[in-house]
Amino acid sequence: MDVFGKYRRVLITAALPYANGPIHIGHLAGVYIPADIYARYLRLRGEEVLFVCGSDEHGVPIALKAMEECVTPKKIVDRYHRIIKKSLEDFGITFDIYSRTSSSIHRHTASIFFRCLYDKGKLVEKITDQYYDARARLFLADRYIIGTCRLCGYKYAYGDQCESCGSSISVTDLLNPKSIVTNTLPEMKKTKHWYLPLDNYTKWLKKWILEEHKEWKPNVFGQCKSWLNAGLSDRAVTRDLDWGIPVPIEGVEGKVLYVWFDAPIGYISNTIEFFPNDWEKWWKDSSTKLVHFIGKDNIVFHCIIFPVMLKAHGGYILPNNVPASEFLNLEGKKISTSRNWAIWLHEYIDEFPGQEDSLRYVLIANSPENKDSDFTWKDFQIRNNNELVAILGNFINRVSVLTHKYFGGNVPFREKLTSLDQCVLNDFFSKKIIIENWLEQYRFRDALKEAMNLARIGNKYLTDTEVWKIADKISIRRATVLNVALQMIVNLTIIFDPFLPFTTAKIRKFLHKENLKWNQFGEMDLLKAGDQIDQLNLLFVKVEDETVEKHVRKLFNTKS
Ligand code: MF3
Ligand code: ZN
Repeated sequence: MDVFGKYRRVLITAALPYANGPIHIGHLAGVYIPADIYARYLRLRGEEVLFVCGSDEHGVPIALKAMEECVTPKKIVDRYHRIIKKSLEDFGITFDIYSRTSSSIHRHTASIFFRCLYDKGKLVEKITDQYYDARARLFLADRYIIGTCRLCGYKYAYGDQCESCGSSISVTDLLNPKSIVTNTLPEMKKTKHWYLPLDNYTKWLKKWILEEHKEWKPNVFGQCKSWLNAGLSDRAVTRDLDWGIPVPIEGVEGKVLYVWFDAPIGYISNTIEFFPNDWEKWWKDSSTKLVHFIGKDNIVFHCIIFPVMLKAHGGYILPNNVPASEFLNLEGKKISTSRNWAIWLHEYIDEFPGQEDSLRYVLIANSPENKDSDFTWKDFQIRNNNELVAILGNFINRVSVLTHKYFGGNVPFREKLTSLDQCVLNDFFSKKIIIENWLEQYRFRDALKEAMNLARIGNKYLTDTEVWKIADKISIRRATVLNVALQMIVNLTIIFDPFLPFTTAKIRKFLHKENLKWNQFGEMDLLKAGDQIDQLNLLFVKVEDETVEKHVRKLFNTKS
């Protein structure tokens, strides 16, 4: 099959969200919707697909948040795991499994993975000096230390970067260093860790990515290239922390696997959880196509570090592609969880019940696929009202009303097509291959644009044939036009299914037509003359000016 070339099945992963807060539109636009469109599309084609995700529940930020709230980290991750899982379900993201990295299967899988690298001598042991916060009893990563920048004198520079002059600094250069956790002077302490010697793999990575994956998106390929050309250094894969998966080496205590070591293994453990007996074909058989959907801040982990882990371990397949998105901004500013500059999914669901597809639509149409993009409430209103309501909704609604008005809700009989009908239908059906091409190149924004053009063709057809003006004595013509329009609608539900699944489900319900497959697109008899269709309820709700104003006000009023 040409979608896959040599492949027989597709394993789709979406970056595991950190369970230290709810998720917002940026996550949806950059990762979960693109991955979901791809999964839905392939399933519609009848392909064997597995779509895995789960919560990323380890790491320092979660441990610190727990400290702040005086609760256990488990309590934090339980809370957010539940919220995140529900938000993703509410927006129709069709994971086959959404699990979590605190599961026992994951703990076991990550431990034996580490142990395999350790036993094979793939890790390097090193003792280094690190800042230690004696009061919090925590070793501190560079970004948890602040102090005065030697270059510009800024007092609140982070241990890895000065936000004032922009220079990247080494933590030992900070004057007057302080722990941001307790605001006390940290001490230097020696600590032992295990490192992945990335540079040993540079030659292999250069060949694999720079020569064999030139088709990766320019943003992804470019980042890999600059990392590889700058030279890779050893990466510690363990941390001094008590929240995480204990380092599985005898006699080692108080150390855990680095969160970025265990989290991507989560893709594997979640597969094992879902298919305990059959998981290996998804990870160890070269006829599986592995695709990672991520945001741009995750590129190095998915294109360099995780592949090196898999390669060092041996026996695993590597990703065929890593379609990473750029960032979605909000009203011109970077989305920020800590400053509450975000649109939270659980809040959208409360405020716009039943309008999940409006957000899906706007986020795809304006997706940060190749460069950062900006979500504004005004643009949300314009796209919802001028595209979903005025084009797609309007076309379907007009056909529904006319079918009920003239034919009592029965699909009318189709006579011979005119050359106009033929011409319109050829144009309509010719878009399939274009849309497939975009989808297979992870260009969901372009794919959706073409899908919308189909609805435009339908609308224009109704207008051009002036079906409501046709005199009763030539009602055969009216029947034909409406039959054609109804066939277009049922075909539209196929094309729109990966993008707007709630809407296509509603339309199919009103047409009494379920379970259509992608390859049925193009058929002109999906509805038979005499089939009954229901009265259509409103598909999309117009967004009023007041709603836009209210939401913009709410955003600008949030305290930072
Ligand atoms: N939690 C990370 C983030 O939100 C993504 C982890 S992806 C995985 O940036 F591969 F590690 F799972
Ligand atoms: Zn500075």
